[in-house]
Amino acid sequence: MKSQPAFFLSLLVLALVSGSCSRNSQKQNATLPALDTATFHRLVDGKEIKLYTLKNSKGTEVWLTNYGARILSVITPDSAGNRADITLGYHTFDEYLNDNMYLGCIVGRYANRIAKGKFALDGVTYNLYLNNGPNTLHGGLKGFDKHVWDSRQNGDTVFFSYLSKDGEEGYPGNLTVNVFYTLTDDNRLVLDMQAETDKKTIINLTNHAYFNLNGEGTGDILGHDLTLVADAITPVDSTLIPTGELMPVDNTPFDFRKPQTIGARINESHQQLLYGKGYDHNWVLSKAPGSFGLAARLHSPVTGRILEIWTTQPGIQFYSGNFMDGTAKGKSGGIYAFRNGLALEPHHFPDSPNQKNFPSVVLNPGEKFHETIEYVFSAGK
Ligand code: GLA
Repeated sequence: MKSQPAFFLSLLVLALVSGSCSRNSQKQNATLPALDTATFHRLVDGKEIKLYTLKNSKGTEVWLTNYGARILSVITPDSAGNRADITLGYHTFDEYLNDNMYLGCIVGRYANRIAKGKFALDGVTYNLYLNNGPNTLHGGLKGFDKHVWDSRQNGDTVFFSYLSKDGEEGYPGNLTVNVFYTLTDDNRLVLDMQAETDKKTIINLTNHAYFNLNGEGTGDILGHDLTLVADAITPVDSTLIPTGELMPVDNTPFDFRKPQTIGARINESHQQLLYGKGYDHNWVLSKAPGSFGLAARLHSPVTGRILEIWTTQPGIQFYSGNFMDGTAKGKSGGIYAFRNGLALEPHHFPDSPNQKNFPSVVLNPGEKFHETIEYVFSAGK
């Protein structure tokens, strides 16, 4: 017979093991996504909020809404076939009204920062709202993420359209923006972004989805491996505005040309990591300007899930969730704490309107803005 302490210890072990098993199986069997869809049945600014679902034969499911032309959920199987939601988001619609993390939305008219909220075109200076210290971030006070877009579904594609009026948030020109999300049967989520203007303006669009390949709400992303196909970053000042130089990644914690564990070097005392409170930088993609190519590859050794990001855009912002402070509650009830998700945002370089050596973000009347981002889902070891 076991001694009493050993007996209680084995009871405790049994309770812990069965508790964690039932939690795991609950998670795997839970209805996904963990959205309270009833809360999406409402009007905002007099327009109806809509929900869309795309599914393919590989077990991938993508949920979208026309509020911010936003990804709400991406459900994919891991290497054992267990499905989980790998993008961060909220449980109810109202939480999106107050969102300051830009979860899953299209950011615009200008993704990322513009120094001092100012830029000039043909000698005219335009002033934007300062919503990020001395700078403008992700479109200003009410960016594209806080508008209700027109939308419709056509088979495997959901189409969103938004007219950003001349002068909205201080930007010149009536800008018509069309974005198309298509889920293919070979497990690609294709995001096609197009725009036209009637007056010279600037534009920089991306999607700001946060990923956690172990499933949203399961903890931090520091154990994920990341590859970034880039030889340099655009280093920043203390307000995260590029200095205008390019910094080669050789022998720095910014070298992700071979797969690297995100957490391995994130706490090094490199000045750029101190400014970003971790990774919050634009990598200069190695592919030829304007060409479509691989930008990033993210892998979780825990679930085997792999996410590749391909794009036509020249840069990618890798943001390791350094401003996540645990105040946001995730869609399945867990708190989104420090670095519990990461964003990989293919885009034009931050503050390009004020940086003469960066690729141009100017759009003229008669020209077509056209950029593509593809998220490719798979699972390996
Ligand atoms: C971008 C920025 C970050 C942060 C997030 C949103 O990725 O670069 O600094 O503002 O958006 O929280």
